[in-house]
Amino acid sequence: MKAKRIAGEKAAEYVKDGMVVGLGTGSTAYWAVKKVGEMVKEGLNIRAVPTSEETKELAEDLNIPLVSLADVNYIDLTIDGADEVDSNLNLIKGGGGALVREKIVAFHSKKLIIIVDESKIVDKLGAFPLPVEVVHFGADKTLITLEKFDCQPKLRKENGELFNTDNHNYIIDCNFEVIENPKKLNNELNELPGVVETGLFVEMADRVIVGTNEGELNIIE
Ligand code: A5P
Repeated sequence: MKAKRIAGEKAAEYVKDGMVVGLGTGSTAYWAVKKVGEMVKEGLNIRAVPTSEETKELAEDLNIPLVSLADVNYIDLTIDGADEVDSNLNLIKGGGGALVREKIVAFHSKKLIIIVDESKIVDKLGAFPLPVEVVHFGADKTLITLEKFDCQPKLRKENGELFNTDNHNYIIDCNFEVIENPKKLNNELNELPGVVETGLFVEMADRVIVGTNEGELNIIE
């Protein structure tokens, strides 16, 4: 927990007065949002776009002023977690199921800072099953199509029920073990009917802040 906390709090230092800030989702982003909440309480003037209903509730509890993505031209800075980060700063995201909103917010951000503990750093992506958001209609057929990509796809369940995202879609977690070419795979998966978006964030991160449980911080750019 310490690693996530120090990474999240460090990232909050990049938030400056007047910014529109994208607020990520997950147990690491939680610490960044909490810190931004404290800064707002002390007078920081920002507007924020949350990447999930969960983060929206947290931000509201902390009195962080929220704005809809539609009402801003762009986001100055987004801070978010990740499930895996490779040596080119490509990411797997979506372990918490918020990948679609996270990717839209990241795409419209001038800067994307990723915050992780050191367990998320890998040589190649793929040991963490890749979350792929799919529409309900034909989801069983989409799953069969995904099998042809040489992975083991599984419809995500939570408490015995199929997991639904904030966008009312399913998630199929695809175990690739190793993803040799994240950009190609992302493009190919996104061409499939029924696929809404993948959790591959290719060439999107500007900076990765890595926390360790010993209290050290490494910043990779
Ligand atoms: C949410 O859908 C994800 O993309 C999270 O950002 C990612 O799973 C990292 O979560 P943790 O910080 O909780 O590990």
